[in-house]
Amino acid sequence: MAERWSPDSWRKKPIQQVPDYPDRQALADVEKQLATFPPLVFAGEARNLKKHLARVANGQAFLLQGGDCAESFAEHGANNIRDFFRMFLQMAVVLTYAAASPVVKVGRVAGQFAKPRSSPIEKRDGIELPSYRGDIINDNAFTAESRTPDPRRQLDAYRQSAATLNLLRAFATGGYANLASVRQWMLGFVKDSPQSRRYVELSDRISEALGFMQACGLDLESHPELRTTDFYTSHEALLLGFEEAFTRVDSTTGDWYATSGHMIWIGDRTRQHDHAHVEYARGIKNPIGLKCGPSLKADDLLRLIDILNPENEAGRITLIGRFGAEKVGDHLPALIRAVKREGRVVLWSSDPMHGNTISSASGYKTRPFDLILKEVRSFFEIHQAEGTYAGGVHLEMTGQNVTECTGGARAISDADLNDRYHTVCDPRLNAEQAIEVAFTLAELLKSERSGAVRALPAAAGL
Ligand code: PEP
Ligand code: CO
Repeated sequence: MAERWSPDSWRKKPIQQVPDYPDRQALADVEKQLATFPPLVFAGEARNLKKHLARVANGQAFLLQGGDCAESFAEHGANNIRDFFRMFLQMAVVLTYAAASPVVKVGRVAGQFAKPRSSPIEKRDGIELPSYRGDIINDNAFTAESRTPDPRRQLDAYRQSAATLNLLRAFATGGYANLASVRQWMLGFVKDSPQSRRYVELSDRISEALGFMQACGLDLESHPELRTTDFYTSHEALLLGFEEAFTRVDSTTGDWYATSGHMIWIGDRTRQHDHAHVEYARGIKNPIGLKCGPSLKADDLLRLIDILNPENEAGRITLIGRFGAEKVGDHLPALIRAVKREGRVVLWSSDPMHGNTISSASGYKTRPFDLILKEVRSFFEIHQAEGTYAGGVHLEMTGQNVTECTGGARAISDADLNDRYHTVCDPRLNAEQAIEVAFTLAELLKSERSGAVRALPAAAGL
């Protein structure tokens, strides 16, 4: 029998990656205050997302998940959010049209603030300070004051998440996502690239198809699926005091839900089966992601799935592999076989970012675009060989024209990284690179879907 779960039962378990708050009373006060704030999302929305993810797990749709490694207070603004959303729509339309696959859209956004670190301490020029753990915890500037965890930052992160979500909801349903605007989603700086030519071609074909439907007498305005889109939010549920404060009972079902985002995931460093993060996640009904790195053994994975999804519900678990282009072939097949052998229903997704991080010659943390594509391709090949469905990707990306990952159509070099390296955490794909990934994915997905005999999607909405 599993022990009794409650929103705070994680507090009795061992825990990794906790910030050292000097003022415990101030922390408790903030958590108490957060618990009185309105939820960011509703349980019914999380349930809808779970239904969509169940369809992905069955091979009937594709999951596109992505956003900043860490959202920052400094980069918060309407233009950033708009550009991110536009890029997301562009990627989704490429996948929907070119691969004829419905796309489930989940941003790493409106709550993706807390970061696990490989070391609790950062050393520069002989000075040691606590590591930066994300804007919800401390500040990136290398001073003792900035790096001291401050609980009041959680209030700011909540407000920023609420404002971001408000704008995203407006974009998703207020007309911005109308398929008739497919051409306008293109971002200015992408305009004279090879990707833009491919995208313009594709958007022309979509416009033609819409024109044809209209000429046939279809009233496009009366089809909300052409004018609006479903957009969901997700983040790593790392800062459990914050998560606990937003864990609420759903009045229609009596179940507990995380209301800080639609989907939450457990990071690769905090997935010990008997530790706090798994304890927290097992009791909430949201869709859960689980990062799977090279150290994860098949037995551990099965045990985690048993704990997190004892009823084997489709859409509940998304396994997000992040092995590295050179390692995915050594690790993923064994996990797939074990899950298949035990009849567990999961959605397999690929994070081709976190296993491919290197230090550039110029000292920047970067990711070569070729390695990112290589891991994605291997992910599809492995699933094809195992007879399973490569269901999604998980990317770190921004709508801005940054230079953080090397390579891509514009061949960003080591020397270019210095130009526009803005991330406060891991290097992200810029919009042009992200759209290039989407075109590659569309090809891979198209051959995957034509190779497999699968039921036709229930709805072909964006
Ligand atoms: C992340 O997604 O930013 C992250 C830290 O990933 P992982 O837990 O896979 O290292
Ligand atoms: Co990251």
